[in-house]
Amino acid sequence: MGHYVVEGGHKISGEFTVHGSKNACLPILAATLLAEDEVVLENCPNISDFNQTIAILERLGCTITQENRTYTIDTSKIDSVEIKEETVQKMRSSILFLGALLGRTKKAILGYPGGCTIGKRPIDLHLNSFEKMGICIEEEDGFLHCSTSHILGYHIYLPYPSVGATENILLLAVKAEGATVIHNAAQEPEIVALAEFLRRCGGEIYGAGTSTIFIEGVTKLHGTNFCFPFDRIEATTLLCASAMTGGDIALAGVEISHMSATLDVFEKIGCIWQQKGNWLTMEPPKQLYSNLTIKTGPFPLFPTDAQPFFASLLTLAEGTCMIIETVFEQRFRHCKELCKMGAQIDINGQRAKIYGNAHLMGTEVYGTDLRGTAALILAGFAAEGTTTIHGAEFVERGYEDITGMFTSLGGQIQLLESCHESK
Ligand code: UD1
Repeated sequence: MGHYVVEGGHKISGEFTVHGSKNACLPILAATLLAEDEVVLENCPNISDFNQTIAILERLGCTITQENRTYTIDTSKIDSVEIKEETVQKMRSSILFLGALLGRTKKAILGYPGGCTIGKRPIDLHLNSFEKMGICIEEEDGFLHCSTSHILGYHIYLPYPSVGATENILLLAVKAEGATVIHNAAQEPEIVALAEFLRRCGGEIYGAGTSTIFIEGVTKLHGTNFCFPFDRIEATTLLCASAMTGGDIALAGVEISHMSATLDVFEKIGCIWQQKGNWLTMEPPKQLYSNLTIKTGPFPLFPTDAQPFFASLLTLAEGTCMIIETVFEQRFRHCKELCKMGAQIDINGQRAKIYGNAHLMGTEVYGTDLRGTAALILAGFAAEGTTTIHGAEFVERGYEDITGMFTSLGGQIQLLESCHESK
């Protein structure tokens, strides 16, 4: 448990190489189980969700070695299909072990997964799809017991393009008997990364990145090398921090087609961005301006994970803005904390009306989830005086050394241990 102490008034500017993507690496770590062989993963981020997923793989019997950002994972000798650790309750992506273990061994036992406190996060789409593919699912004492004698290919129509459900179905379908088609599939870049990884292992997958994915099941997959793509949400965090503090920033390793919706908003509020080779550069205007509506949605729409940073940013812009959150129901909790810092935000259900031109003042605020806490750090950089932000344990799930990252860009931020549990 720790908290950040941020001193406002310093520009976030300079060059930074964005780390490997949290949301791409978690499903791919689960997918290594399907390879039955050695997998080499490069550009791994040092974040707690990654490290906890590695720990789960070790407990299943995988042999893992690490050299800097490269992990070698040998899954040939797994000796367990049970994931009962407490960490499962904290990390929603652990649900992906269900598809991967079933694909590998036709059996899996998993605790009900948790995750950030950003609303109800059911897993009905995962489980309904699995049942259609021949998996027998029983719930006993909070654990899901899943097994089958045959994984069957099927035409799955997802009522909502869930990222996790699309990934889980891919993990299972790649080892199914016959063909699977996922209709209304999620199209996020992380789905494309998982499909690419599975293809390199010998999987037959077509159409990832579109709303219809075709998978022809194979009997066996093999090891491969894979390099994780950049984290588009970390990149957006950095762009917002620089825009809020008047700094110029250059990010290396960014694929701009993965960030179209957020870059579009940056342009509308007056920021000038450019792609120069492998670099994305951005300069903010003297005064950010608002008067726009941002509506979150599945890719390629505006990402819900970037919404909290823009809520912080738009408190500073001239004008009034509406944010409509369509993906998760409790994703405005950071707004109450922003108001303590002097922001004026009206929340009405899934809508937040943000009145701009706020003069943010440092105070003590409490984060309750990963991106919301990061958004409060950004507000701290733009505020007058010192802001104390509780909730480092959330931030560490998805940001590698956030204090080092911002310090290298001119920010004044320290991580201190809390004497007692925060909030
Ligand atoms: C993933 C990302 C998360 C991101 C989210 C949306 C990872 C590890 N996490 O989460 O950062 O915010 O995509 O881009 O990649 N739903 C159901 N039933 C289901 C599954 C989902 O109702 O079985 C609902 C959820 O409650 C939510 C919506 O669908 O309202 C989107 O969820 P989903 O796309 O599945 O997000 P995650 O995979 O959990």
